[in-house]
Amino acid sequence: MSWAVVTGAGRGIGAVIARHAVKEGYRVAVWDVDRAAADAVAAELGDAAVAATVDVGDEASIEAGFAALPEAPGLVVNNAGQVRFGPLLSLSADDWTDVLTVNLTGTFLVSRAAARRMGEAGGGAIVNISSVNGIAAAPNAGAYTATKAAILMLTEQMALEWAPLGIRVNAVAPGLILAGMSDPIYADPEIRELRQGKVPLGSLGSADDVAAAVLFLASDKAGYVTAQTLAVDGGLTKAAMLGLSRPKSVDSVGDR
Ligand SMILES: NC(=O)c1ccc[n+]([C@@H]2O[C@H](COP(=O)([O-])OP(=O)(O)OC[C@H]3O[C@@H](n4cnc5c(N)ncnc54)[C@H](O)[C@@H]3O)[C@@H](O)[C@H]2O)c1
Repeated sequence: MSWAVVTGAGRGIGAVIARHAVKEGYRVAVWDVDRAAADAVAAELGDAAVAATVDVGDEASIEAGFAALPEAPGLVVNNAGQVRFGPLLSLSADDWTDVLTVNLTGTFLVSRAAARRMGEAGGGAIVNISSVNGIAAAPNAGAYTATKAAILMLTEQMALEWAPLGIRVNAVAPGLILAGMSDPIYADPEIRELRQGKVPLGSLGSADDVAAAVLFLASDKAGYVTAQTLAVDGGLTKAAMLGLSRPKSVDSVGDR
């Protein structure tokens, strides 16, 4: 039974990824800065899970987390993330740095520590959680969008550097997801209605949708897939041309 490390797994999408990983037969290390939350998730998952206090922005904490595992993990999911909403004009350097540290530096530090171990063990899979905000900018998202875009390029670079070690590295870009940090946004039914109206598939996504994509990319079914981004967004990021007005003469071409 291979080990999966899921960062930020104490709640939200990470907790659901941990649950899916157990279902797929992994033993799961539930990492979070919030120990009580990680303990609660691990308790729910039973013998297959262990909780640990790991701050992804802190190298010593990450090293201790990996040292506590009996072997190199087969899967690492860089899910821990945070957002501080607000306009760039008033974004403080501290807030900028905090978001970069967790989202981007955390992804790098955890992946590097994992890859050193996976490389020695003959390979593994890393899945980084980005966002549609890494593909399309969103006003007032502070440093968040920049980190999520950077994760996509970091994913590609890691994939190319570590392919010779047998390590596949891919990213998942969740869209409008009814879970975790977005819960406060969707507490307003009107906002929810307006937002899901922008999604070609017509609904919000779930944490299960994201977790299913992560476990697919981790699996042998994706054994020839690396350096890719899988948007789990109901088509949102491909919808720029959707619903544009066109003259009837154009839409009737071929109608004879
Ligand atoms: N919820 C969404 O709509 C959505 C959409 C796109 C992408 N995402 C991404 O999915 C991931 C999970 O988001 P979520 O909505 O579940 O968020 P969430 O806020 O519910 O959970 C994030 C978890 O990360 C933990 N965390 C924060 N800083 C940490 C650190 N330094 N070290 C370890 N753990 C830390 C938190 O304690 C928390 O348990 C994030 O990367 C987020 O950017 C979420």
